[in-house]
Amino acid sequence: MAWETLLYEPAGRVGTITINRPDQLNALNSTVFREMSELLAEIAVDPAIRVIVLKGAGNKAFVAGADIKEMVDMSRREAETRSWTGMRLYDQMRRMPQPLVASIQGYALGGGMLIAMACDIRVASTAASFGYPEIKLGIFPGTGGTVLIDRLIGPATARAICLLGDRFSAERAFQLGLVNRIAEPDDLEKETAEVVETLANYSPVAMRELKTVLNASLEMDFATAREVELDAYGRCFDSEDRREGTRAFVEKRKPDFKGR
Ligand code: HXC
Repeated sequence: MAWETLLYEPAGRVGTITINRPDQLNALNSTVFREMSELLAEIAVDPAIRVIVLKGAGNKAFVAGADIKEMVDMSRREAETRSWTGMRLYDQMRRMPQPLVASIQGYALGGGMLIAMACDIRVASTAASFGYPEIKLGIFPGTGGTVLIDRLIGPATARAICLLGDRFSAERAFQLGLVNRIAEPDDLEKETAEVVETLANYSPVAMRELKTVLNASLEMDFATAREVELDAYGRCFDSEDRREGTRAFVEKRKPDFKGR
């Protein structure tokens, strides 16, 4: 399927999605939201794909935010609808059975930082920069943006990032735990590939169940999340992959996980 705003390249176990509006610094317009959601729904049921990489086209921006040009004449109702669409997309990303790795080479601002945070792992170039500049536009990081950053890095720093709207470096993002790994610009692809290879060799069953539990922990109270964990752990134990993983350890060999 040909996408207007995305490129999708499946290769072996890895599906790479590129947000492809480089002349607009990959700003998220309504077509990107719709196409991302449709593409993810297809990938979610593709058993060949074990890891998804999300990138921005060009070398300047991962994603410079939601499309501000679409916002100029936007009514409150349209903005709320857009917010729902965005929140559904970010939820859909978190709920994907496969892990998503954001590979961030440039600006990750506003909705761009948020779509990176909706991925499971973030690898950034030292040339990348981050921030929530929405306050400068007379709005704030809606679409779940304030709530998620609070959960991921803690309320004090999250509050300053939202209120001040400053841009900050990949090194700072790494210190805050917002980014999991940083690399020199020329090494970003290699560092991303290392993370991807690690994830691609793990059991897809365990990965899916683990993501379910981590999502529950983000969204639910302690006791309920633990109930979700118990069920998910049980399902792992029913899998052939669990037998393969534990047997491989005992037999001193690498496991070959089949995803069942
Ligand atoms: C629409 C955008 C855009 C955006 C850049 N462009 N960001 N268009 N929406 N978010 C467009 C510019 O208008 C310009 O198009 C082209 O991309 C190149 O950008 P320049 O500004 O000329 O580049 P530069 O001078 O290098 O500045 C780069 C930049 C700046 C610092 C990243 O573009 C910028 O500040 N962008 C906006 C960042 C932002 O405020 N993001 C938050 C958006 S609100 P033309 O047509 O002029 O060539 C948001 C809400 C989400 O994300 C809520 C959830 C968190």
